[in-house]
Amino acid sequence: MVDDSIVDLAVIDPPYNLKKAEWDTFESDASFFDFTYSWIDSLIPKLKPNGSLYIFNTPYNCAFILNHLDSRGLFFQNWITWDKRDGMGGARRRFSNGQETILFFTNGPCHTFNYDDVRVPYQSTQRIEHAKTKGILKNGKRWFPNPNGRLCGEVWHFSSARHKNKVNGKVKKMGHATPKPLDLVERIIKASSNKGDLVLDCFVGTGTTALAAKKLGRRFICSDSSADYVMLARGRLAEYS
Ligand SMILES: C[S@@+](CC[C@H](N)C(=O)[O-])C[C@H]1O[C@@H](n2cnc3c(N)ncnc32)[C@H](O)[C@@H]1O
Repeated sequence: MVDDSIVDLAVIDPPYNLKKAEWDTFESDASFFDFTYSWIDSLIPKLKPNGSLYIFNTPYNCAFILNHLDSRGLFFQNWITWDKRDGMGGARRRFSNGQETILFFTNGPCHTFNYDDVRVPYQSTQRIEHAKTKGILKNGKRWFPNPNGRLCGEVWHFSSARHKNKVNGKVKKMGHATPKPLDLVERIIKASSNKGDLVLDCFVGTGTTALAAKKLGRRFICSDSSADYVMLARGRLAEYS
């Protein structure tokens, strides 16, 4: 049981209803959305007044989840597109899926956002090299690039854990159907929490959020309906000291 109004950041990677495992299989779309809206409604009171909430899902499901969060009075911040850099599925009657969505909402308008901690490299390296010494004239002022890179946008390129785990082009068994990449979760935690803050993940799987929080000096509360996954997550945490 988690007390109300104590969570600074919730990073939630729930079932998607893609039938990737038993826990990801629902009788119908209606039962999936009943389940989803029910855990969202239980989670919202746990957030601090300016706490942040990130939810992973398919773009299609996120369209409905966004509406639900909006109806609960949360503040929309971003629709993040995660380009998974993975082998695409073999779709023949539509474009192949290679992305997931991460919805970023906050419980209030004065939330933490450490944009300097999540800068990314500039794309046009030649132009930036030139600008480092001479600057670029913008609206009558000289602009110099930030040495730590540009502000992070809403399209994120991270190889999926599955893709990273390939050996000679073959996927190695990972002990879980859908682990998230650690570097992606670290970006969320760096941006939307500070050292010592409390991070919640109630679908922790292999423990990615817990591990990222531990590495970054955040406190965390995590759970999962599977005792086996909790053990897996604990094992991963124990390896990092
Ligand atoms: C998408 S996975 C999370 C993966 C995790 N982010 C990682 O990186 O390993 C979703 C997890 O939710 C758990 N789960 C499914 N239904 C649940 C429920 N009703 N309550 C708690 N956990 C549940 C599953 O066991 C699964 O590990």
